[in-house]
Amino acid sequence: MSLYAAFRSIGAYVPEKILTNADLETMVDTSDEWIIKRTGIKERRIAEEEVTSDMGAKAAQLAIDRAGLTNDQIDLVVCATVTPDYFNMPSTATVISDKLNIRNVQAFDISAACSGFVYGLSVARAFIESGMKKNVLIIGAEKFSSIVDWTDRGTCILFGDGAGAAVISATEDKSEAIIDVHASADGAYTDMLITPAPGSVHPMNQANLDAGLQYVQMKGNETFKLAVKTLTKDVKEILEKNNINAADIPHFIPHQANYRIIKAVGDALGMREDQVVLTIHKYGNTSAASIPMAINDLYEAGGLKYGELMLFDTFGGGLTWASAVLPFAGKDV
Ligand code: UT7
Repeated sequence: MSLYAAFRSIGAYVPEKILTNADLETMVDTSDEWIIKRTGIKERRIAEEEVTSDMGAKAAQLAIDRAGLTNDQIDLVVCATVTPDYFNMPSTATVISDKLNIRNVQAFDISAACSGFVYGLSVARAFIESGMKKNVLIIGAEKFSSIVDWTDRGTCILFGDGAGAAVISATEDKSEAIIDVHASADGAYTDMLITPAPGSVHPMNQANLDAGLQYVQMKGNETFKLAVKTLTKDVKEILEKNNINAADIPHFIPHQANYRIIKAVGDALGMREDQVVLTIHKYGNTSAASIPMAINDLYEAGGLKYGELMLFDTFGGGLTWASAVLPFAGKDV
């Protein structure tokens, strides 16, 4: 008997507060026109009192309920985040487990920046196919506003807060199985996208704080070019390897970093507009949360049905990148 991993459910949560481009015009030297033209972003959500685990727990509870499970049936909790509740310990996955009253469970975080959710998918698949776990909760949750320098117009216009989660469960039905996940990294590009402190290189001290090392730094244009090149190649490879035509994928769900990156990769694959899921205009870049938040929007709008194929691609700090092709194996909304 072979065991496969099925993508059973999706959930997401976004904080209430909306930060518009017009709001940003009052904070830094930018314009609504520039932001829309260069990124596609119109607004993003900002968590005020809520922390990463609050948003992650809300998204996760929805995903567990929609999978038709009770919380005690979850046997692995994986949280992908680069804005954890605590930078060293405990992991945000353990805090979320506590908030959901999931006890005596294996729980850990994944640090793969924007690629974290798809990395989590590969981990869930491996645990399930090896027979070690049955119901894995994967969460992408970010309070990116907590590491943004609100005086840096090159980064502060891009990011937003939110969370998404999915339950990946064991199945014997091969038609429900995750088809493939590619997860990759190249550490030669460490300084492209980095939050230098706190860490063992730049510990928390006044000098490092005064230097602003606690904020995200990005070489935007270089990252942009690498993202388009790398993602186009990676997505073409995963489709070719699995003998799938881009035209036959109803739902291309890319990481929402920049509309121009999504368009360039979509065009290279010959994707039609109706195949591409876009949420960047309303949420900005929510890092590890962006793909599950986009899946959830599609699902709640009634656009994602049992058995339909999804294609993910993502790129982020590390550098890391990943792609996946899989059917949705959850109940219709
Ligand atoms: O999710 C993880 C991966 N992240 C990404 O993939 C993000 C990749 N990068 C990007 O999305 C884009 O590079 C940005 C949106 C960050 C920047 O767009 P760009 O087309 O690469 O612009 P640029 O950095 O080359 O800057 C062009 C100009 C510069 O002015 P000069 O030197 O031409 O006078 C910037 O100073 O735009 C200026 N600029 C801005 N102007 C108004 C940069 N940020 C802003 C701003 N408002 N917010």
